[in-house]
Amino acid sequence: IPVEDFDLVIFGGTGDLARRKILPALFRRFQAGQMTPESRIVGAARSEMDSAGYRKDVRAALEEFLDKDRPKAEIDDFLERIDYVAVDATGDGGWDELSKLLRKGVTRAFYFSVAPSLFGALAERLHQHGCAGPKCRIVVEKPFGRDLHSARELNKTLRDHFSENQIYRIDHYLGKETVQNLMAVRFGNVLFEPLWNAHYVDHVQITVAESVGVDGRGAYYDKSGAMRDMVQNHLMQLLCLTAMEPPARFSPDAVRDEKLKVIRALEAVPPADIVRGQYVSKSKGESYLDQVEDPGSRTESFVAMKLQVSNWRWAGTPFYLRTGKRLKARHTEIAVIFKDAPHSIFGQSLGRHRNVLAIRLQPNEGMDLFVTIKEPGPGGMRLVDVPLDMTFADALGPDAADVPDAYERLIMDVIRGDQTLFMRGDEVEAAWAWTDPIIEGWEDTGDRPKTYEVDSTGPEEAAMLLHREGRRWREIA
Ligand code: BG6
Repeated sequence: IPVEDFDLVIFGGTGDLARRKILPALFRRFQAGQMTPESRIVGAARSEMDSAGYRKDVRAALEEFLDKDRPKAEIDDFLERIDYVAVDATGDGGWDELSKLLRKGVTRAFYFSVAPSLFGALAERLHQHGCAGPKCRIVVEKPFGRDLHSARELNKTLRDHFSENQIYRIDHYLGKETVQNLMAVRFGNVLFEPLWNAHYVDHVQITVAESVGVDGRGAYYDKSGAMRDMVQNHLMQLLCLTAMEPPARFSPDAVRDEKLKVIRALEAVPPADIVRGQYVSKSKGESYLDQVEDPGSRTESFVAMKLQVSNWRWAGTPFYLRTGKRLKARHTEIAVIFKDAPHSIFGQSLGRHRNVLAIRLQPNEGMDLFVTIKEPGPGGMRLVDVPLDMTFADALGPDAADVPDAYERLIMDVIRGDQTLFMRGDEVEAAWAWTDPIIEGWEDTGDRPKTYEVDSTGPEEAAMLLHREGRRWREIA
């Protein structure tokens, strides 16, 4: 279904995010027939160039970042909808030209794909030059601050010029198909909700393992680390969707109110419940410290922790989170590990069997529900755990294998005016309020992160975090 007519301006239109994610996502939605023929995309950046030059650049980006589905005629068609204006974010250059390009009476979206230090200047100029209006929306990306103080400042800067319902803060994890499926599974079935609490759930594991390192992004990453780069945002969102109460409806504030309550219910994490890691390798140039400027950097490329959501539903059920770079595989999942059956009629010798619901975000998007059954054969009552495997591509046909990129969904939601999958300002601030003391604690002690070998599952201490409680991490495979 096509979305309404729109003009989308991408500030930072020549940058990496625009080339790698935003423009390819727009092209795919164009191909899918979701963009009306009149809709326009305007690249805006500092470089002097004309629209023809920009289209060439966009064509090159599409060729580089789309691995299939790129018939030339469609690309030509798409490029006709694209213009470029050179604007000076902190001066006056280009703004009148931009304002002339924008049509009256259609939805306007401004994507701030630039450093957060420019948000204020852009917002101000949009107003000065008559580009902003009540129908316009702005889209901002992480990093949304680096602590509570800076996040508050950013929120204030944006709210000085726009109302909260015009501000779309992207966390691309919320655009992932399987993340939305988590809500469908929880709230579209009667099967899970009665069991989704501390009475039946032993613990939850959320893993976002990456096989890539920081190569090429060392300068940014070394100032952030896994806690700021991944936990404060992506893992926090996954945790919220897993732990939240059922919202009254699937609408922006209903969902975001419930997520916020989860963040506010998080207990402070004692140092003994967190492990930080940094990858090392015997090969030259492959260790974390070889890839960042500061040879003594104490930034973590891995973090594992035990969290407690202090509310009626979850008291006593730990949530274990881990994320890291240069791990043995790319593997993202949320696993709900249920408790043992209260009594085993088959005796103790048959070992431990537990139901597990594993929601796989990547690769092979899908779900596994492990159930215990009798091992076939004459060998008596032997129990075995088997997965009821629902790989979306197998269950729903080949189209389901073509999972749309998170940005496709999210950008179309901006145009539709649906904020459900975007973070509200108070949510971001609450997440920083929880993150800050942890990071400050590390800075105070000055301890070095533990080391872990590249292509491993992380530091030994992370395994201990669960072992000491008679649990273990699920395989990263
Ligand atoms: C980004 C982080 O937000 O998410 C990166 O800055 C990380 O460090 C990336 O690699 C992971 O996203 P995805 O979609 O590949 O899991």
